[in-house]
Amino acid sequence: MTGDRNNWKQLAAGKEAFIFDLDGVLVDTATFHYRAWRRLANELGFDFSMQQNELLKGVSRMQSLEQVLTWGRMQQAGLDKEHLAEKKNAWYLELVERMGPDDVLPGVLAFLRAAKATGIRTALGSASKNARLILDRTGLQGYFDAVIDGNAVVLSKPHPEVFLRAAEALGAAPDACLVFEDAQAGIDAAKAAGMSAVGIGSGTALQRADLVVAGLADLKID
Ligand code: G6P
Ligand code: MG
Repeated sequence: MTGDRNNWKQLAAGKEAFIFDLDGVLVDTATFHYRAWRRLANELGFDFSMQQNELLKGVSRMQSLEQVLTWGRMQQAGLDKEHLAEKKNAWYLELVERMGPDDVLPGVLAFLRAAKATGIRTALGSASKNARLILDRTGLQGYFDAVIDGNAVVLSKPHPEVFLRAAEALGAAPDACLVFEDAQAGIDAAKAAGMSAVGIGSGTALQRADLVVAGLADLKID
């Protein structure tokens, strides 16, 4: 059923608002997060796999750090967690600084423009505190009626706060919202908010999504 046109049409029918995750949906920063967390883990003397990394997607910076330290059995090591999180973020930002409009993922601009043209309201719903910086660097900032990011929410995905805040900002009821997400935590957050969800990536990694596609380039708005 991946990318099935009829499923997509059914899912999009009657939706008033689209809410987009950022990292891994609009831009390929999910790989940057992975590289920076791995660099930190390696410096601390351990490693973790791409499969483990799936659990970091959509999760806030400090919660991700807790998870990484648990994998390295370093929770009791008396480490300065704020310092470690800052270090990871600095490495991550080195990668972000090199980004530009060419780093927007295939099909994203066409999809956002088509959504706007059909009167659909759009919001960003991201756990990242760097979301606005990335929108600016890639030229995506003008495409959203509302931006709810890691600076605006207290509770991390899979809690539905970020998506409920986005729906509220757009004046849309949850069941009229469609969320686009590459993280299991994000799909779970959308479902907890009472919204439909399109998974971006692989079906095996994204349980409970109403539809899974490889990227927004696979979806056309009529
Ligand atoms: C997104 C990413 C996570 C990241 C989180 C916080 O949800 O999927 O991998 O940890 O944002 O990002 P930040 O840029 O604030 O460290
Ligand atoms: Mg993501």
